[in-house]
This record gives sequence, structure tokens and C-alpha cells, in this order.
Amino acid sequence: MAVFWMVILMGIVGFLFCLTLNHFLPLLLLKNKKFGDVPRGSFGYLPLLGETLAFLNPHPSTNIGSFLQEKCSRYGKVFKSHLFFSPTIVSCDQELNYFILQNEDKLFECSYPKPIHGILGKLSMLCVVGDTHKRLRNVAINLVSTTKSKPEFLKHIEKTTLQVLDSWKDKKQIIFCQEARKFTFNVIVRQVLGLSPEQPEGAKILEDFLTFMRGLISLPLYIPGTPYANAVKARIRISSSVKQIIKERRRKEYVINSNDNICGNMNINSQEKEIDFLEILLGVDTLSEDEKVSFVLDALLGGYETTSILMAMVVHFVAKSPTALEQLKAEHHSIRSKKKKDEPLTWEDYKMMGFTQNVINEALRYGNVVKFLHRKALKDIKFKDAQNRNNFCSLWSGYLIPAGWKVLPILSTVHLDPSIHSSPLEFDPCRWERQDQTGKKFIPFGGGSRCCPGSELARVEVAFFLHHLVQNFRWSVEDDDQPIAYPYVEFKKGLVIKLDHLAL
Ligand code: HEM
Repeated sequence: MAVFWMVILMGIVGFLFCLTLNHFLPLLLLKNKKFGDVPRGSFGYLPLLGETLAFLNPHPSTNIGSFLQEKCSRYGKVFKSHLFFSPTIVSCDQELNYFILQNEDKLFECSYPKPIHGILGKLSMLCVVGDTHKRLRNVAINLVSTTKSKPEFLKHIEKTTLQVLDSWKDKKQIIFCQEARKFTFNVIVRQVLGLSPEQPEGAKILEDFLTFMRGLISLPLYIPGTPYANAVKARIRISSSVKQIIKERRRKEYVINSNDNICGNMNINSQEKEIDFLEILLGVDTLSEDEKVSFVLDALLGGYETTSILMAMVVHFVAKSPTALEQLKAEHHSIRSKKKKDEPLTWEDYKMMGFTQNVINEALRYGNVVKFLHRKALKDIKFKDAQNRNNFCSLWSGYLIPAGWKVLPILSTVHLDPSIHSSPLEFDPCRWERQDQTGKKFIPFGGGSRCCPGSELARVEVAFFLHHLVQNFRWSVEDDDQPIAYPYVEFKKGLVIKLDHLAL
């Protein structure tokens, strides 16, 4: 009996301890600060979790969700909360978001939750900071700019598009998200590792990759058999597959070079060799072997889910917007009419796809592929509040963002803010003819020194896919299958579409 009461007592003490950690510690630590104050808000009642569950409550990604709605109307666009085990400043304000992203490494630092590090690995670009991040990022930017406009790169995206669309010819209905994932995975695996879907290494990586993705969005419990533990293991397997591919590539390189030396000139194989990310990566001497492997994983991860969900959103929104579809058809028909029947698309063609870019921008704004980012304040930061930004009064009237607190810039609230975008809850690609596509109002790929290096690759993939889709198919979607922010975006039923193949 005594043991029973002991357990109950310990439970109560534990609960109170957590509550203290949650509620009072952050404020006690602030008590002696001389300036300003933290924004208004509440920490919630759940020990350690605070308001995390309410914050993560699923909602259509085309609205900001009831949690942010309520908080913003009660406390304004910047408020305090307790999320992901930490006192947090949530920013739904475009100026503050911009300020946070532009001050990476100086005032703020990327800070994804620890369980994510467990899966991505400590060398992932989303986890590293400072000089290591700069080194990895430089390589990423160079790789993308070297490959993006190469004819083989574009040729491969188009070939993969045609393979997917060809497999739909005799189908009346498909689950679009599955097809889009197949497409983006094949593109990125080919782009990064030079593998085609038919090769067994590609199929093995895909299988491990799906386990990896399931773990990324699961409860972070490292107990054998849980999705999280399986994902950590899958990551180790993908790493060793990539290492094996690197080893094999080096061996082939050695054979080719030896042949070149014997023949005294370039061997035919080395001339025909297609350049992929890995080929360039192997020649980079500023990265260790483990960093190269981690880099490959980042590219696979970055290029897979986000791009496929963007494709699904475009297909979903365009199905409900006949005017956008007509304009898309006209644009792609005009591009095709200047080419021979099966002539591949070029970078110049891509640059002619102006309305298509408007559709992509609008899907990114309205659909919000990435809802928010994770940051941490490196020092105490004072930031003027919206009402006083242009007001040069001598009294300080702003926020304090305390050192060590988590900071979450919310991207979707800026994209759906009626004071920034007119009629924000309407899908209207034409707004991009009038509106600036850069700056603080539109940041679907983040900003500052962590801005997405794969944005153009994603745009090319969607544009090429649309080029063939609108010319060969008509499609309709079910009304109730909407993009939902979990907060990672998914269509509940995988976006079932009904197809009509146009006989051309
Ligand atoms: C619709 C498609 C995409 C969206 C919406 C998207 C969005 C983003 C966002 C918002 C960030 C910033 C993360 C942060 O600041 O914490 C980011 C970073 C990143 N993305 Fe993308 N992305 C997309 C496609 C891609 C593709 C195709 C690739 C790879 C080829 C890629 C690779 C990366 C990498 C490596 C980073 C980390 C950059 C760094 O930390 O410096 N992304 N992405």
C-alpha cells in the first residue's frame, strides 16, 4: 500500500514539476530583464507539451486553422506559447518573419526538434548550423546551378513525365498522390544518384525511403518496431546503399581512367557518361565522406515529398478552376505548336511558361506546402510591434524575444492574410501578373541563408508535368478530398482523380 501512495505522490510531484517548468520557469528567468516584455499569450496546461497538440491540430492547408485564428484575434500576430517542449514566440507577422530569416546565425538559429535530428542524422543540412551549414550549402547551390539547365536534366524530367502519363492511358481513375510521389522520386533518384526506377538499387532505396518518411511524421519513440525506430534503421540502410553506390562509382571511374591512360585519349564510355549530382559531389574535396552521404539524403528527402504535394495541389486547384485550365492549355499548346511532334522541351520553352509559373505560385501561396519553420533565439532580441513600426517615439514599444526561446515563423498566415493578399481564400493565378513574386509577402521556400536550394528544380518538374498533362488529359477531383495540414500536407484520400484521355 505504501508503495502505491509513493507512486501517486511521485506522480503529483512530477506533474507539478513539469507544470513549473512549463509555466513559471520561463517567466522567472525573465524577471530581471530591463527592457520591453515578451508578447502576450499563454503556455497551456499540459506539462512540457503546453499547447503543442492544439497547434498541431489538422486543418485544411488553405486556411490558417483554429489555433492560429484564435490566438491572432486574441493577442495579435506575434504571441507567446509553449510548443515542442519549449517556451516559444510564434510569429504570423511578415516583417518579423523576414527579420528572423534574414538574421540566421546572427540572432536566430535553425532548431528542428531533437527527434528529427535522430532520423535525419546530425550532418543533415536542416540540423547543422554555422560553418558546417555554409560549407554544405555552398555545395548544394553549386550543384543545382551546374545541373539545372543542362539538356540531360530537362530531358530526364520530361522522360519521367511521359512514362507516368503513359501508364495512365487505359485507366479511368488514379490516386494522384501515389503517382506524383513515383514521379518525384524517380526524378530525384535519377538526378542525384543516376539510378533508373528499374534498377534494383533504386527500388531498395525507395522501400527504405518510405519507411524513413513514415518515421519522420510519427511519435518519436525509440522502441524496436515503432515507425520512429524503423525510420532510424531505414536511414542507416539508405546510407549504406549510398556508400555502396559511391564505392562502385569510384571503381568504375578508376577503370575508365586506366583505359584512358592506356588508349592515350578519352574513352568512349567517359565521353558518354551522364553527369548527376553524385558525379560532381565526388569531386568536391571540402566535404567528408559522411557529409557527402548525408547530402545525398537531404537532396532525396527535400526533392520528394514537397514537390509531389505541390503537384497534387496544382492538379486539385486547377481541376476546380476552368479559366486557369483554359489559360494553361493555351500556353502549352502555343509552346508545342512551335516544335516538332516529339521534340523535347528546352530551358527556353520553360522560360516561356509564364502563366504556368503563376499557377505554381498561387498553389504555393494558397496551399502552403510548408506551414512553419523552426528557429531559436540566440540572444535577447527586441523587435518593434506592428503598430509602432513607423512611429519614431522615444519610448520603446516592442516585443522581447528572450534568448534560448523557440521561435516559429509561420509562413501560411502571411500567405493567407487579407491585408497582404486580396481575397486570399480564392485560388487566383492571375494575381501574380499584378503582384511581386519576391520579398516578404511570399516565402514558400523560406528565406535568407537557408532558402530552399531546390526551388527551381521543383518548379521545372511541375511545369513539365503540366505541359503534358493538360495536352493529353482532362480530369476531375472529389470535392471533399482537400489538402490537410497535419502540419505536413496530405490529401486524406490521396487525391483520387477521374481521367479522360484525349485522343490527339
Ligand atoms: C515544392 C517544393 C519545395 C518546397 C515548398 C520547399 C520548401 C523549403 C523550405 C521552406 C526550406 C527552408 C527550411 C528552413 O529554413 O528551415 C527548404 C530547405 C531546403 N530544401 Fe526545399 N522545398 C521544396 C523542394 C526542394 C527540392 C526539390 C529539393 C532538392 C533537390 C529541396 C532541398 C532542400 C534543402 C537541402 C533544404 C535545406 C537548405 C538549408 O538549410 O540551407 N527542396 N525547402
